[in-house]
Amino acid sequence: MGKIVTVVNQKGGVAKTTTAVNLAAGLAAEGKKTLLIDIDPQGNATSGLGISLPEGSPSIYEILIEDLPAGQVVLPSNYEYLALLPSSLQLAGAEIELVGAKDREHKLKRALKGLADLYNYIVIDCPPSLGLLTLNALAAADSILIPLHCEYYALEGVGHLMNTYNLVKRHLNPALAIEGVLLTMFDARTNLAIQVVDSVKEFFGRQVYDAIIPRNVRLSEAPSHGLPIYYYDPKSKGSEAYIRFVLEFLARNQDPGLSVLVPPEEEKPEVKSPIGEIKPVDLSKSGKSSFLTKGRKRKGK
Ligand SMILES: Nc1ncnc2c1ncn2[C@@H]1O[C@H](COP(=O)(O)OP(=O)(O)OP(=O)(O)O)[C@@H](O)[C@H]1O
Ligand SMILES: [Mg+2]
Repeated sequence: MGKIVTVVNQKGGVAKTTTAVNLAAGLAAEGKKTLLIDIDPQGNATSGLGISLPEGSPSIYEILIEDLPAGQVVLPSNYEYLALLPSSLQLAGAEIELVGAKDREHKLKRALKGLADLYNYIVIDCPPSLGLLTLNALAAADSILIPLHCEYYALEGVGHLMNTYNLVKRHLNPALAIEGVLLTMFDARTNLAIQVVDSVKEFFGRQVYDAIIPRNVRLSEAPSHGLPIYYYDPKSKGSEAYIRFVLEFLARNQDPGLSVLVPPEEEKPEVKSPIGEIKPVDLSKSGKSSFLTKGRKRKGK
């Protein structure tokens, strides 16, 4: 049975989609059969893989509303081992249409029953809300992965997310675990970002990944080219950071990959003196030295 990981945070723009797309593409690159599920009506994960749904083709909407078997909706991607369950704009209405449905929170879980055996990992990209679409993703998952934007309000809303997580565990999915917390859009130039990292680590402890995703313009450009970062700019800092994250994800799951993704070399922190560069003093040439020499000479006289 494949592991189902839901990328969730009701806050908008914290890099849920960027993380879901690059985690799924990274796992596939490492030889893991992976399915990326786009359960967000915005369809950013679908377009982020360079896929536009042909008109009239079914999407996850038909799975949730018309009980279409999920296998009929899965599309291949441009990458070996990576498949997509696409979203469509229609999905925006599903949140309301599901309200009266029987067992409405378990629609996705039921649809994935036959599919989970075909994949090593299923990664679900959620919309920025805790509505019925997200609840379906939480009810279907083995674990949740929480991206947190390194900014002042990073932890705002996390309490609400944790309440929802606990409610889902109590009522819908007792086995739901926390996969990990990924810090995103880190800007090393600001003290604030460093403080945010500290407070998130205080709150979540070992659940925070060592890999931290920096703010990187190549990451923001990649979706408009429909490419995961490893194929858009493999040498960028963004690509290096997501490679570190994917390898850490696999290591935490004790699941060796094919070693296709090359981890970047460990960066040695540059130690700078607060008063600038310190140059070694050549005592033989300094005035002090000559004074001492003279002194000694005098003494010897
Ligand atoms: N590390 C990064 N550096 C710079 N830009 C980034 C980074 N990560 C994501 N972005 C950009 O920030 C924006 C928001 O990211 P993304 O769409 O992944 O967030 P999201 O949480 O899925 O948003 P939504 O809540 O709307 O679904 C996008 O334009 C994305 O390209
Ligand atoms: Mg998104």
